[in-house]
Amino acid sequence: MEICVFGAGSLGSLVGGLLADNHQVTLVGRQPHVDAIEADGLAITGAVDRSATLNAVTTVPATAELAIVTVKSFDTEAAAQALQAVELDGVLSLQNGMGNEEQLAAELAAPVLAGTATYGAHRTEPGTVECTGLGEVVLGPTDGGKSTLADSVGKAFTESGIETTVSAEMPRYLWEKLAVNAGINAATALARVPNGAVVETPGEDVARHAAREAVQTGRKQGVSLEPADAAQTTVSVAASTARNRSSMLQDIESGSRTEIDAINGYVVEQANRPVPVNETLTGLIKTWEKENDLRL
Ligand code: PAF
Repeated sequence: MEICVFGAGSLGSLVGGLLADNHQVTLVGRQPHVDAIEADGLAITGAVDRSATLNAVTTVPATAELAIVTVKSFDTEAAAQALQAVELDGVLSLQNGMGNEEQLAAELAAPVLAGTATYGAHRTEPGTVECTGLGEVVLGPTDGGKSTLADSVGKAFTESGIETTVSAEMPRYLWEKLAVNAGINAATALARVPNGAVVETPGEDVARHAAREAVQTGRKQGVSLEPADAAQTTVSVAASTARNRSSMLQDIESGSRTEIDAINGYVVEQANRPVPVNETLTGLIKTWEKENDLRL
């Protein structure tokens, strides 16, 4: 399959590098990473140890059958506009936060799939990505149900050794992932601690509260998830990634804009009742972004 991975951050580089084993992959990213990959290939270290040969460019390629979008949620619209130049058979969003698939579908004619990934990845230096933990990709039609596109993309991933499940229940998976991110990301970023720290306090805590509020919001939209299960999943993810620094903590440490709008901010926007923990987390992260001139 001819695949364009749009976004050469940690997950995009890892997924692109793994897919390059069996597919023709073009990774769209920033200049220093692109130059390093063009010169020496992409080095994958950590839990997967190999070198991948793939094309790396800074603008969209002329052709691709599948686009995998891995950019930050606030760059989704720009990615969608750039991808309009390519005649695609399908698009897969592998991004954090909610609302990305809708933005892609609004700009692109090709069908859009939703996906979640639990692989841990960290971009160390240009041309290198470290796989910090093996995980799983779950993908499928955004509104649930089955599609031949989802089956063929699932097959392409599996052929490349990526643990993949094609799901007919993506709305549930997306809300579950949102709840975990709502619980872990802003709390770790504000407290400047690794994931494990936010669920170490016995009893009630911010992370569990935020995850429960997220799921209660999803339930109002017809998603069948239990708040107590979401709190438990948040604890398990935080425990299994205890030493990792969440993506939002990494954003804050590098002085970059965060994905707060698509995570806790999305919960606040969609809830038609008070969600005080998500409101507080959103307000504090936005205050930090504004103070650092990262939002208007
Ligand atoms: O955004 C992240 O960092 C990850 O999705 C998660 C699950 C919080 C683990 O670090």
